[in-house]
Amino acid sequence: PSDTGRVLSIQSHTVQGYVGNKSAIFPLQLLGFDVDPINSVQFSNHTGYPTFRGQVLNGQQLWDLVEGLEENELLHYTHLLTGYIGSVSFLDTVLQVVEKLRSVNPDLVYVCDPVLGDEGKLYVPQELISVYQQKVVPVASMLTPNQFEVELLTGLRITSEQDGLTACNTLHSAGPRKVVITSALIEGKLLLIGSHKKSKEQPPEQFKIEIPKIPAYFTGTGDLTTALLLGWSNKYPDNLDTAAELAVSSLQALLRRTVEDYKRAGFDPSTSSLEIRLIQSQDDIRNPTVTCKAVKY
Ligand code: ATP
Ligand code: PLP
Ligand code: MG
Ligand code: NA
Ligand code: MG
Repeated sequence: PSDTGRVLSIQSHTVQGYVGNKSAIFPLQLLGFDVDPINSVQFSNHTGYPTFRGQVLNGQQLWDLVEGLEENELLHYTHLLTGYIGSVSFLDTVLQVVEKLRSVNPDLVYVCDPVLGDEGKLYVPQELISVYQQKVVPVASMLTPNQFEVELLTGLRITSEQDGLTACNTLHSAGPRKVVITSALIEGKLLLIGSHKKSKEQPPEQFKIEIPKIPAYFTGTGDLTTALLLGWSNKYPDNLDTAAELAVSSLQALLRRTVEDYKRAGFDPSTSSLEIRLIQSQDDIRNPTVTCKAVKY
């Protein structure tokens, strides 16, 4: 047994570039975790490019892999991490996986990034929303939606910080003790809002981190954020604000490096979707300098 943990990570794989498992495995390994990836899809590149090709794993194939692990008594995990899931049947199988892993380790932490869409655009089938609401949110330990996803899951519009906090409370009452709205544009500011419900009796501890907005569009950063939140909140289980400061600060250093590298190569970073400089940022992941501080509510 390791003092950090063993993560089963069910996410996308791309041959080129860093989204899904490609952006989660390396940082978790750097933070000392054993990571066992299951690739929910294998695509040539992320779906923001003009074309992509590859294969999609179905629910039965996912279950087959889990049964293989079970046959050999290899199902002991401390954490389950899930990201983009494209169909109801796959999501239903993920729910069976949660149950199975908890039958082996009742303390399993399930970190769920409920990927539904962004900036008003849904990128999964509509039917997934109610499955997340009714079945997935109740079993998640930590949930990392963005602003649009919080709105879809709670039915609340998030236009103020108070709206964000109220939505976190709604999500807590449905299940997860930790909720992090990983990005929300509120009154012109880019915010991360975190909420930790430590006990039934007390109100949650809530905080925000203001993030300096970089004029560029990145892919893989949501997946990286959730992975870093898993990693740091395992080290600081009672200080979600500290975990989020470390995650956001790593991200900022990495994004600055990414933009600088594109500029140096003669590209205008504001004009296209940028591939993150993940490997080159390993020191910022292992040993972040906290540049973005949390403010408690
Ligand atoms: P999901 O992937 O679940 O939809 P998300 O929409 O929050 O989550 P991103 O929009 O990639 O994912 O944001 C995640 C984090 O990445 C933010 O908290 C921020 O730290 C960083 N980030 C992404 N884009 C920028 C940007 N243009 N400027 C500054 N930080 C950014
Ligand atoms: N997974 C796949 C296969 C993708 O193509 C993309 C984005 O294009 C993502 C995940 C999204 O990554 P993120 O939300 O972290 O930017
Ligand atoms: Mg986003
Ligand atoms: Na998110
Ligand atoms: Mg995303």
